[in-house]
Amino acid sequence: MRPTQVTERRNDPTSSPLDERQWGDGELVITIDGPAGAGKSTVARGLAARLGFAFLDTGAMYRSVTLGCLRQGVSWDDASAIGRVAGRVEIRFEGDRVLLDGEDVSAAIRSTEVTDHIRWVADNAEVRALLGGLQRRAAVGMRIVTEGRDQGSEVFPDAACKIFLTASPETRARRRHAELAARGQAATYAEVLSAQIRRDQEDASRPVGALRPADDAVIVSTDGLSEEQVIERLVQIVAARALATDPNAE
Ligand code: DC
Repeated sequence: MRPTQVTERRNDPTSSPLDERQWGDGELVITIDGPAGAGKSTVARGLAARLGFAFLDTGAMYRSVTLGCLRQGVSWDDASAIGRVAGRVEIRFEGDRVLLDGEDVSAAIRSTEVTDHIRWVADNAEVRALLGGLQRRAAVGMRIVTEGRDQGSEVFPDAACKIFLTASPETRARRRHAELAARGQAATYAEVLSAQIRRDQEDASRPVGALRPADDAVIVSTDGLSEEQVIERLVQIVAARALATDPNAE
């Protein structure tokens, strides 16, 4: 069985308000978890860019395995077959692109078909163990922002800084609705809201890796804040944590 591989990208730092030396030389993991539509993806990418850290989109990994299963016609009630697909496919990140067995699937993994079937993959204990292991391996020796549902609670319990990003269901559905409309995808606000409520329930009731804030996560609501404002808030939180753990801090 070919092991799944993940490489993570390194963002170019733009303006980091933090002195590089504050971080020391070692590995430094910042986790960002939260429900769908809280704005995690853009904000996590933006934070990574601001800090000059690498970025890992773990949702893209679950999406890629789901696409692999769809393509191989795996039966959704066959948990071991789903686990085998996860163990066979190769997932790589190149900048903003996601490659599945060498093919650019960045758009394909965002399809409704993938989103509608993802729970079979995300609920699978074997897949979670496998992808969690890959995520930990991708972070070895790195300064990295990693984004998902279980990063602070399960995968990186010792992360230097854990953020749980959330927003009211209405705000999240409104954002998603606008996003779909901008892409020319027709869906009413009511449809988007009910699909989101279903996903929230699935995320929260997952038998393994259920969505929950880690005990030591900082909970940030993005209601009423622009992306820039949220990134600014996170930079401040990270800076406070960095100073708190800096042995040279006064
Ligand atoms: O963040 P996203 O919408 O791309 O994630 C897609 C799905 O993957 C989401 O419905 C839940 C699942 N997921 C997960 O179970 N654990 C993660 N760490 C990331 C995503």
